[in-house]
Amino acid sequence: MNKPVRKAVLPVAGLGTRFLPATKCMPKEMLPVVDKPLIQYAIEEAEAAGIEKFILITGRGKNLMEDHFDHAFELEQILEQRGKDRELDLVRHFPEPSKIQYTRQQQAMGLGHAVWCAKDFVHDEPFAVLLPDDMVLAERGCLTQMMDAYNHVGGNIVAVTEVPRDQTNRYGILDIEDDDGRLARARGLVEKPAPEDAPSTLSIIGRYILQPEVFDHLDKQIAGAGGEIQLTDAIAATLDSVPFHGLRYEGTRYDCGSKPGFIAANVAYALQRDDMEADVRAALAEILK
Ligand code: UTP
Repeated sequence: MNKPVRKAVLPVAGLGTRFLPATKCMPKEMLPVVDKPLIQYAIEEAEAAGIEKFILITGRGKNLMEDHFDHAFELEQILEQRGKDRELDLVRHFPEPSKIQYTRQQQAMGLGHAVWCAKDFVHDEPFAVLLPDDMVLAERGCLTQMMDAYNHVGGNIVAVTEVPRDQTNRYGILDIEDDDGRLARARGLVEKPAPEDAPSTLSIIGRYILQPEVFDHLDKQIAGAGGEIQLTDAIAATLDSVPFHGLRYEGTRYDCGSKPGFIAANVAYALQRDDMEADVRAALAEILK
């Protein structure tokens, strides 16, 4: 039996420079897709996958996120007085206080460093990492699909997708040993390889199930590609002792860390909504005319 995955780490301390000036005072994870911030989608995906406890690794804008996952008494009172029950439900949906924690990454030293900040929260259990700016629109949540795979193969699992070869230098890329078309067992991984050096075109997106052994490497605080402490280096360091798989998830991924990806996500999620689909379709048709 593989140890259950009960905890999730959500790194939200990046600078979000691609969205300036919107992210000057606000973390990019508070940007809304349709009407919900990215961070809330990530928490809901994790809850649906059975996660019980969350830690947000924050930088600037910590208060904004704490407020978002807390009661807004004045607003709730007004909504109550006006009989707006549906809206009340929407603002009251968040994890109980005992289930959500926050810690500061005092310097944005890379994703590996952000995850390392959760070491005392994770202890010696397997855990999930979700990057809220990667969204996967799917019938079954991406992390739920990964949990299914984890229950079969254990170890470290990442969600993967094929990228064009000329883009390998933007992603963590798997070196594949064995592949059944859905689950690929990897013997290695490289962070941002040049296209000619990339061992494959299978790239990691922002969903991980990891074993606590990754902290042995993160403890050493070694900077990797781009001078940042890389999570992929920590996973690579455990390859001899921990099996490592990439799961080709079902669904469509939107890179909401990039402007085109963020706009596309807004359109795609709006088209899923019964209350908006027709209007959005009509507006798009008008724009594209
Ligand atoms: P990105 O690579 O997208 O960086 O981080 P960024 O700073 O957020 O955005 P840009 O490139 O400046 O526009 C991927 C994820 O890792 C988190 C980010 O918050 C995001 O969820 N991260 C990154 C940290 O929490 N700490 C870091 O030091 C770096």
